Amino acid sequence: MSELFAHETVLPAEAVMALKPRAGGVYVDATMGGGGHTRRLLDESAPDGIVIGVDQDERAIAHAEIWGRAFGRRLVVMRANFASLSDVLSEIGVARVDGLLMDLGVSSVQLDEADRGFSYQHDAPLDMRMDRRQRTSARTLLAELSERQITQILREYGEEKWASRIAAFIVRQRVAAPLETTGQLVDLIKAAIPASARRDGPHPAKRSFQALRIAVNRELDVLADVLVRVPDVLAPGGRIAVISFHSLEDRAVKQAFARAVKPCTCPPQQPVCTCHKVPTLRLVTRKPIEPTADEVAGNPRARSAKMRVAERL
Ligand SMILES: C[S@@+](CC[C@H](N)C(=O)[O-])C[C@H]1O[C@@H](n2cnc3c(N)ncnc32)[C@H](O)[C@@H]1O
Repeated sequence: MSELFAHETVLPAEAVMALKPRAGGVYVDATMGGGGHTRRLLDESAPDGIVIGVDQDERAIAHAEIWGRAFGRRLVVMRANFASLSDVLSEIGVARVDGLLMDLGVSSVQLDEADRGFSYQHDAPLDMRMDRRQRTSARTLLAELSERQITQILREYGEEKWASRIAAFIVRQRVAAPLETTGQLVDLIKAAIPASARRDGPHPAKRSFQALRIAVNRELDVLADVLVRVPDVLAPGGRIAVISFHSLEDRAVKQAFARAVKPCTCPPQQPVCTCHKVPTLRLVTRKPIEPTADEVAGNPRARSAKMRVAERL
């Protein structure tokens, strides 16, 4: 962990070694954050491996421009959404890579930066954009979406039981004045969820904040976009490792890998394949890799991490 970027890297050794880095290889860390995995990839692919570090957050990029100097031309830093990975690679003249790592979600730095609005623990503007160049923030979503759409987001992305009540409270409140801060939203969520249902379990705003963050950053859409392109960007034998932090992400990764492993769409009773879709990946991990109890004790954020790894055929 760097002092300037206080993010404790999850599954640091497991994720990097899953890619089997070697000298001369080319790797992408599509979620560079504080660079914990990126630096390890650079070390493991020394003396001449190349690592392309991608992040959509300006702070992660600015930080990498400082720590990355030590690696010279071996580290290529790109500010982009990983959904446009193919464009990023063609921009720098790279056709295929030997490894691709994704450590999904937000970094601890983003959560802790008071003005980002990711955390229900700090009162801040309702923002939640990982890329502050984009227009849509949590504030605009809550001001512009219908009650039905807000309910759907809270239910689907947060698995929030009280979704429709919270959405109704939001829509009633915004008639008087738009919601501007995370503090206002937390108060409203607390008012919408009956006290008896708030007594146990996690913070009552946890699920709604997760849901809004996923919606603002279109996290599941961009994940789906990049996962379908994985076979095109990996060289034969190249590997992808994805670390996810909630069941929606893990399901998306598992299903995308399964489709690439068994792409045939012919009816099962048909004796001969006529769709001619060939497998592009093989699973390296049948069950996801999870952090050890020791890692979780030292880094509570690792608690829900699951890593899946696949290899290009
Ligand atoms: C969990 S952190 C990564 C931490 C990093 N592995 C480390 O050890 O420091 C996730 C990072 O990915 C970035 N990110 C999330 N979704 C992204 C996307 N679609 N495109 C580019 N960057 C993304 C976030 O801005 C954040 O910095």
